Amino acid sequence: MSIHIKTQEEIEKMRVAGRLTAQVLTMIEPHVIAGVTTDELNDICHDYITNELSAIPAPLNYRGFPKSICTSVNHQVCHGIPSDKKLKAGDAINIDITVIKDEYHGDSSQMFVIGKPSIQATRAIEASHIAMWKGIKMVKPGVQLGDIGHAIQKYAESKNCSVVREYCGHGIGKNFHEDPQVLHYGTPQTGVTLEEGMTFTIEPMVNIGKRHVKMLKDNWTVVTKDHSLSAQWEHTILVTENGFEVLTLRENEVVPDV
Ligand code: MF3
Ligand code: CO
Ligand code: CO
Repeated sequence: MSIHIKTQEEIEKMRVAGRLTAQVLTMIEPHVIAGVTTDELNDICHDYITNELSAIPAPLNYRGFPKSICTSVNHQVCHGIPSDKKLKAGDAINIDITVIKDEYHGDSSQMFVIGKPSIQATRAIEASHIAMWKGIKMVKPGVQLGDIGHAIQKYAESKNCSVVREYCGHGIGKNFHEDPQVLHYGTPQTGVTLEEGMTFTIEPMVNIGKRHVKMLKDNWTVVTKDHSLSAQWEHTILVTENGFEVLTLRENEVVPDV
């Protein structure tokens, strides 16, 4: 139960793992189309990670998780298990990729929509995306995790959305999940104070309806209790001397003005 401050050598390895994670999301995008199954997306990612990147898909066998990526569709909040179900027009899907390279983890997820997004999907996807970036942009030494959680919650709720509380961001490094817990709600000036060299994820799950969730019988897939749409984005972040570095930034992704 302690927060590991990464050395320069570890940070360099986290940069590599983060870059590879981002590459997987860029690679999979053109495959996320109507008619594809989430199993097929899983297999494409698995082969790319193991063969092209010579890396390890961290979810596979993690606490018994049966696949190499998480795919959470529509009212699924997180930890969806790839299956033989086909994606169809209007579906909104979160693909969550975690890669291990040279013992270190990169963890990132993004939303994709098949065809034209519904107004509700657009709302959830934009609210969670901007909420994540509002949180990321606060990161610098001296800021407290409660400040970040509060900023994320305040933004999501201002858009009439709710923030899931049962799952959170997390420290990351040699471990997939380590201290600290990064809550996506909170009270300013509370919680862990950030220091240079910390690495953690920010990954808010934002619902159009109520915040409450339940677990499906597969013991992994988390869904909204009211079956409202849910959206999530995730990046792995390094606290730098003056601010933050997004370790999983994709090649064509720019840090937005939020
Ligand atoms: N990638 C998820 C996260 O952001 C965790 C998935 S755990 C798994 O923390 F076992 F479902 F892969
Ligand atoms: Co994560
Ligand atoms: Co993740």
